[in-house]
Amino acid sequence: MTDATIANLHGRRVWDSRGRPTVEVEVTLANGVSGRAIAPAGASMGTGEAVDLRDGGNAFGGLDVTNALAGVNGPIASALRAKDAYDQAGIDAALVELDGTPNLSRLGGNAVVATSMAVLHAAAASSGQPLWRYLAGDGPVRMPLPEIQIFGGGAHAARRVDVQDFMVMCPSAGSFSEALEWTAEVYRAAGALMKQADKLQGVADEGGYWPAFDSNEEALEALTRAISDTGLRPGKDVGISLDIAASEFGRDGRYTLALDGRTLDTAQLIDMLGRWLDAYPIVSIEDPLAEDDEPGFRQFTQTYGSRCQIIGDDFLVTNAARVEAAASSGAVNAVLIKPNQAGTVSEALAALRAGKKAGFGTIVSARSGETEDVTIAHLAVGWNAGQLKVGSFSRSERMAKWNEVLRIEEALGKQALFSGWAALPFYRASAIDSGSARRQC
Ligand code: PGA
Ligand code: ZN
Repeated sequence: MTDATIANLHGRRVWDSRGRPTVEVEVTLANGVSGRAIAPAGASMGTGEAVDLRDGGNAFGGLDVTNALAGVNGPIASALRAKDAYDQAGIDAALVELDGTPNLSRLGGNAVVATSMAVLHAAAASSGQPLWRYLAGDGPVRMPLPEIQIFGGGAHAARRVDVQDFMVMCPSAGSFSEALEWTAEVYRAAGALMKQADKLQGVADEGGYWPAFDSNEEALEALTRAISDTGLRPGKDVGISLDIAASEFGRDGRYTLALDGRTLDTAQLIDMLGRWLDAYPIVSIEDPLAEDDEPGFRQFTQTYGSRCQIIGDDFLVTNAARVEAAASSGAVNAVLIKPNQAGTVSEALAALRAGKKAGFGTIVSARSGETEDVTIAHLAVGWNAGQLKVGSFSRSERMAKWNEVLRIEEALGKQALFSGWAALPFYRASAIDSGSARRQC
């Protein structure tokens, strides 16, 4: 260990995958080592998330970050100078205290999360270890099961369909790299299918196809077909995973489906999702109800939690106390971990630990607005999360993360154990599994 006290902090404006301004922070230590990180940005955000500081006004749709950068270069730099970068908990506590608001609205969640992650990178570099190894210490690591978007919808695709993410998971793959190979084939097959049907439009915010579907069910049919077209077995080799992101179209127990022009109550939405679970090989479902529908979450998990992973995203906002409450009420059985929802690395870790303690599935996740920053790839491995959600299998802000995990897998060699089905303890296969032969990859 060398002298890892913080000598300097520098915030600069860079641009994210939607062409919007965001915050990059570079931390330099007294020993000359530095670390750097960039804040991501959500589009379908939970109301309980840390809040980004944006300038408002005319420039860049009001999304500029000059005030957030002034905070990094001014008060944050002054508060952290001479602090020990190895003391991540102390650094993060200092950031939270300096901000002084419950949702980081004074300094901005964007300024705080970029600073927190940059300090983490500097500390790992100073220790001479890759970030995932620095995080893991002597603890076990597993290669995460990737959750990869094929079709985008909801807020990321002008609400063409209500469901936000139609994704796949390949738990029967033998390794992380094989899971990516299978997904690459499904992504290609889905593209070919959409082209053939003349439905292809463009790609949504996270790189998934954005076809002109006429219903949510059409997307589910197409995805199941795309899996079969590769020779892999839906539900056995490759499962479907959905992010309903129901807060985007529901509140106060009323859910308005844009395509059908129908409004459902909580019980009707649960029934509709239940029919999907019966009809399609769905292994995981995220935010099936809106963030304000806690009774709905409990009802859904009571009914389906023994056959499917049920993830809280907007509902839990990477908050340890909310995870603990959901564990005691039985509202979900898995938690999404987005560092910028929490605001600091330490709070994200606390939420992940609360999830593990409850026996939940834990999924480290990107945001819809991303960059070349690959911190979450290291968090997923180093924290032994079991699952990683990054968006689709196209566009470099997504591929940078998948590719980083491949490098980690190679570095681990024979010790690169793949999470596979162990990451999905709640999934029980139902009758819909097709019997086609597993393809030899
Ligand atoms: P967001 O959505 O990053 O746009 O908030 C991602 C998700 O809901 O998982
Ligand atoms: Zn979500």
